Amino acid sequence: MPERAIGLFDSGVGGLTLLKEVIRLLPQEELLYVGDTARVPYGTKSPETVRRYAVESASFLVRQGVKMLVVACNTASAVAIDELASQFKIPVIGVIEPGSRRAAALTINRKVGVIGTEGTVKSGAYARAIKRENPAIEVVSTACPLFVPLAEEGWADHQIAYIAAGEYLAPLIDAGIDTLVLGCTHYPLLKKTLHAVLGEKIQLVDSAEETAKVVVETLLCVGANRSGKGSVHFFVTDVPDRFKRVGSAFLGQNLQSVSQVILNPHNP
Ligand code: DGL
Repeated sequence: MPERAIGLFDSGVGGLTLLKEVIRLLPQEELLYVGDTARVPYGTKSPETVRRYAVESASFLVRQGVKMLVVACNTASAVAIDELASQFKIPVIGVIEPGSRRAAALTINRKVGVIGTEGTVKSGAYARAIKRENPAIEVVSTACPLFVPLAEEGWADHQIAYIAAGEYLAPLIDAGIDTLVLGCTHYPLLKKTLHAVLGEKIQLVDSAEETAKVVVETLLCVGANRSGKGSVHFFVTDVPDRFKRVGSAFLGQNLQSVSQVILNPHNP
């Protein structure tokens, strides 16, 4: 078991923000990452479609023999985590619970904001998870769809990003939140912009950081941590060029080993 790889998947490059944290905390692990670049974005698609895509990525990774599945995509975690946990016999970790737990622990005035894709916000998954931690917390959620293309364009710190953030976040600031969950893979890249718009008093919760800690805890708990030299291999469903280019900015290093694959050979 310890020698086997950890499998992570996302709709595309966004999940590399979580992969980066996992590499930082577990440099000795072998990591397999699926980016479903042929079908990105997931955030605007129906829950049924995202669930089907998530099961295909997870099944592909399980066929590679992974010891754990990490659902790096917030939209997929929001709508597919129960289905994945019931279908696969290995630990399945999503990003919603870790981010929610942290937000519930941090808030003092019990007003938490959540930002994510349309699909994540519509699912209500973060609001439910935060209220499970503490039913007295009021959750205000809003979708910020422009943040994804801005991050991929390398414009996370551009004046357009500040204008978009000002528009999206105004209702959350007005609602008096003291904590904001970054409920989308791409949003950690906008932290500087978000801090500038929100001011010092609103704390940011990075779901990717929180989830990476849970990956470590789970590995230790089941005694499946590996020693030796780690490695990362990427699988994408479209040609690798754009994934490599945009992904290296997300990961902060070149993406060396990238293969194009068909996730579901029966339904390519
Ligand atoms: N990875 C997605 C998420 O975290 C964002 C990009 C998409 O819409 O596919 O929700």
